[in-house]
Amino acid sequence: MTHTVPDAPELELHRLMNLHDIETEGQARLSVNALEYYRSGANDGHTLRGNQVAFTRLHLRPRMLVDVSHVKLETTVLGLPISMPIGAAPSAFHGLAHLEAELGTAQATQAAQTVMTLSTLSNTPIEAVSGRTGGRLWFQLYLYRDRERARALIQRAQAAGARALVLTVDAPELGRREANERLGFSLPPHLEAPNVGTREELARLEGSGSHLTRYFAGLMDASLNWRDLEWLRTVTDLPIVLKGILTGEDAALGVEHGAAAIWVSNHGGRQLDTAVPGIEALSEVVDAVAGRAEVYLDGGVRRGTDVLKALSLGARAVFLGRPVLYGLACGGAAGVERVLALIREELRLAMVLSGQTDVQKLSEKLVQWGR
Ligand code: GLV
Repeated sequence: MTHTVPDAPELELHRLMNLHDIETEGQARLSVNALEYYRSGANDGHTLRGNQVAFTRLHLRPRMLVDVSHVKLETTVLGLPISMPIGAAPSAFHGLAHLEAELGTAQATQAAQTVMTLSTLSNTPIEAVSGRTGGRLWFQLYLYRDRERARALIQRAQAAGARALVLTVDAPELGRREANERLGFSLPPHLEAPNVGTREELARLEGSGSHLTRYFAGLMDASLNWRDLEWLRTVTDLPIVLKGILTGEDAALGVEHGAAAIWVSNHGGRQLDTAVPGIEALSEVVDAVAGRAEVYLDGGVRRGTDVLKALSLGARAVFLGRPVLYGLACGGAAGVERVLALIREELRLAMVLSGQTDVQKLSEKLVQWGR
C-alpha cells in the first residue's frame, strides 16, 4: 500500500465549481490509507450521510423586495473578527492530504481571514502553524489521561497564541470506522504527530486494526466528565468551547460549567452511528443555551444555503471538516482557498436571493422543516 500522496498533475482549481467537485477530485488524489481515514464514518455511516441529507429537509422561506445591494458576511467568534461565519474545523493529519499539511490550511484561512482550529492530532507543531494564521487560531484538545502531559500541551497552545481551546467531548474512545480497521490505518512513516511527540508511541502499536484506535485507547481519558472542566479552568484562562454536544441537556450543563461556546457536532458521523444530525440538534441547543454562550455547528455543510440555514437556527458560525481536507488534497493552500472562496460566494448569493443583508441578523423565520 502506498502511503504517499500520488504524483498527480496540477488541477485547474477554477474549474472546480463547488465543494462536491472538490471532494471528487480530492478523493482521487489520496492514497487508500488517507482516503479511508478521511471519508469513513462509524459503522453503517447513517450519521455521516444524515448530516448532509438533513439539510435538504430544511427549507428556506425567502423574502422579496429587500435592498440586497450590500450584504454583510463579517462577524466575530468569541470576540475574534472573521470575514465570514465559516471556519476550519479540527481534523487530524493534514499531512495525509498534501505536503503543506496544516501550514497549507493555515495559509488559506489566513488569506480568507477566518479561524482555523488546529487538531491535537496535527502533523505540524502548533508553534509553526500559529504564525501562519494571522492570529486566528483555536486549538482542539483531546484530554490525556496523564494530566501533566495535558497541562503541558495546553500551555504550549496558549504560548503559541491560540485564542480558544476546543475540547472534544464526544470521543471517550474512537468510534469504529470499519474500513480503517480492515485496512489497518496507520500514520505513514514520513509524518509526525508533534503536538504529542508520539512517532515512537505510534510505532509501538504495530499490529492488526487501526493504529490510531489503539493509540487513542492507550493515552486519552475515557473517564473525562463534567468535573474535569473545572480542572481545565484552573489550567487555562482561554475560553473553552465544548465540541460534540447534541442535546439541550448537555448544552445547559456546558454553560453552567463555564463553556464560552457550544459546538454542535457528531464528529462528522465518525463516532456514534445513528446519532442525530447536527442541524436537527441545533435548535434545542440554541434554546438551552439561551444566549449565555455562542453556538457553532459542523457536519454536512457543503453549500452556502447550508450555512444560511444553520445561522438562521441560531449558530453563530459553522465549520468545515472534510471539505478542507479535500481542498488541501486538490492543491495545498490554494485548494483550501478555493473551498473557502466558493462557499463564501454561495453564502453571499443565498443571502441575496433570500432577502437577507447581515449574517448577524438572521432569524429562524427564514427556515421551515419539510413536512
Ligand atoms: C479523530 O479525531 C478522528 O475522528 O479520527
